[in-house]
Amino acid sequence: MTSTVTQPQTSQPQVVEVSTPRVHNLHHVEVFTPKPNESLDFFTRVLGLHETHREGQSVYLRGAGEWARYSTILTEAAQPGLGHMAWQVAEPDQVEGWARRFRDKGVEHKLEAGGSRFAQGDTLSFTGPFGHRTELFYDFERYEPEAASKLLSQPVRFPTPGIGARRLDHLNITARNVDEARDWYTDVLGFKLREAARTPDGDIGVWMSVTSQVHDLAIMRDGSGERGRLHHIAYYLDTPETLLRAADTFVEEGTPIDAGPGKHGLTQAFFIYVFEPGGNRVELFSGGYPIHGPDWQPIIWDGANIEKAIVWYGGQLPDTFFTVAT
Ligand SMILES: [Fe+2]
Repeated sequence: MTSTVTQPQTSQPQVVEVSTPRVHNLHHVEVFTPKPNESLDFFTRVLGLHETHREGQSVYLRGAGEWARYSTILTEAAQPGLGHMAWQVAEPDQVEGWARRFRDKGVEHKLEAGGSRFAQGDTLSFTGPFGHRTELFYDFERYEPEAASKLLSQPVRFPTPGIGARRLDHLNITARNVDEARDWYTDVLGFKLREAARTPDGDIGVWMSVTSQVHDLAIMRDGSGERGRLHHIAYYLDTPETLLRAADTFVEEGTPIDAGPGKHGLTQAFFIYVFEPGGNRVELFSGGYPIHGPDWQPIIWDGANIEKAIVWYGGQLPDTFFTVAT
């Protein structure tokens, strides 16, 4: 007996592109300060960041848990605010590919060879749709600690000075139209929407990420008419208890506390917000939750839920939380 195997009749299989254009992670922020000495004292002695470099009007700082030579650049300027935010791309030699993508999307940009910025490789710079200066790059110089930790997953030995901010966690920027900003950051840079505060006339805040964090970037509505504003930058603390200790330190230091300590429903963040001496809002953050699956369904807070989204527990946020940005 013989048997025949019939091949199933299929149309030409469709090839699914495996690479999703997505920036990889937040690397650093540049913060402008009109009070460089006071700001530097706050970021180092109080927050516990370490100075690693100086150049021109800028001081470069890193947290104890960070492998790069800096995550924060403090730059003297007439007004506080965001100098730029910088994101690492996923693979070496991908910067040129992102430039091509920007050409296709009609995003004005500038490509500069490595070495044009301290400890940083080839860099693509551009301005986001609501005026935020941004850089993309892959290569950076790692920090070489003088006293490496025997705990090999940790760059330096503990304890650190001050409240011991572990690492830069996320930043929150503002936009006149949050819906447009959300769509642009999704479409062009590959951010995923994780949570949103939604009203009938559009989103008033969105929390987005490219990593498994619930947010790497938040965008809140800005009625000021100004562009490129920063709401806050946030540093990660290991535990909520560390955050309560930080609150003690801020009171001892006379650091103006804007809000907290408390917990947001949104992102499940334990938070405290303070103003550094240069006028920028800084958040100390703990908690949050990880997101691993590719099919996350955004959490939408609306109607009566919004109150709990903003403050799950703790004191109410001051009105200025929704109007003051730098
Ligand atoms: Fe935040």
